[in-house]
Amino acid sequence: MSTIATTERSHREGRLRVGAHRWVSIRPIEVSDAGDLSAFYASLSPASRHRRFLGATSGITDEQAARFSSVDHVTADGLVAILAEAGRDDGRFVGHVCIEPDPDGTSEVAVAVADELQGQGIGRELMRRAVDSARRRGVRALTASLFTDSIGMRRLLAGAGLPVVPRGTRAGVVEVELPLGTPATIPNRKE
Ligand SMILES: CC(C)(COP(=O)(O)OP(=O)(O)OC[C@H]1O[C@@H](n2cnc3c(N)ncnc32)[C@H](O)[C@@H]1OP(=O)(O)O)[C@@H](O)C(=O)NCCC(=O)NCCS
Repeated sequence: MSTIATTERSHREGRLRVGAHRWVSIRPIEVSDAGDLSAFYASLSPASRHRRFLGATSGITDEQAARFSSVDHVTADGLVAILAEAGRDDGRFVGHVCIEPDPDGTSEVAVAVADELQGQGIGRELMRRAVDSARRRGVRALTASLFTDSIGMRRLLAGAGLPVVPRGTRAGVVEVELPLGTPATIPNRKE
């Protein structure tokens, strides 16, 4: 069965299937997740971390881990994707999206997925949930900053069911705005 068909079926069960006997569930981040979140970012490839943080880094600092995991889910939000399997990786964090407010009424969204699980719909589901969260909280628009050659993030944003409006490009980084004014229907699969 194709990934797309599998993903569609799995959404009805509330979690994503990412291979034989492996599933991913998504939930709001909690204060106690700081350690697992640090481990997730440390486990990303240098290239993925570079794309996520727009620069070289070996992982997140304790301060960042505390900030990301102690969001109030009102002004700021965050969600984690967690692997479920029978093996030793059960419970491992394999994705994170954070949505942090800016003073102009927008919120910046940033997302990362474990390298070995990229391309299986986890990013799209995290993004879908981030859009839902922003709408619920009355955010005017989401923004994102990405390298101009970040094909994966570009496609993720393009598939979010929202207009993607470039705000400007500097030093190879483009900032885009996704206005939330129009109700979005974010597809779980290609039409
Ligand atoms: C960008 C990222 C979050 C996407 O997550 P993902 O789980 O791989 O994405 P999905 O499987 O949901 O796919 C979403 C779309 O991106 C495309 N895509 C994902 N990775 C891709 C890649 N490396 N090259 C080309 N397209 C890619 C998918 O084909 C899909 O496009 P489609 O709907 O047009 O078919 C993930 O690749 C990642 O963590 N990258 C490193 C960190 C990063 O770049 N963050 C963005 C800056 S905030």
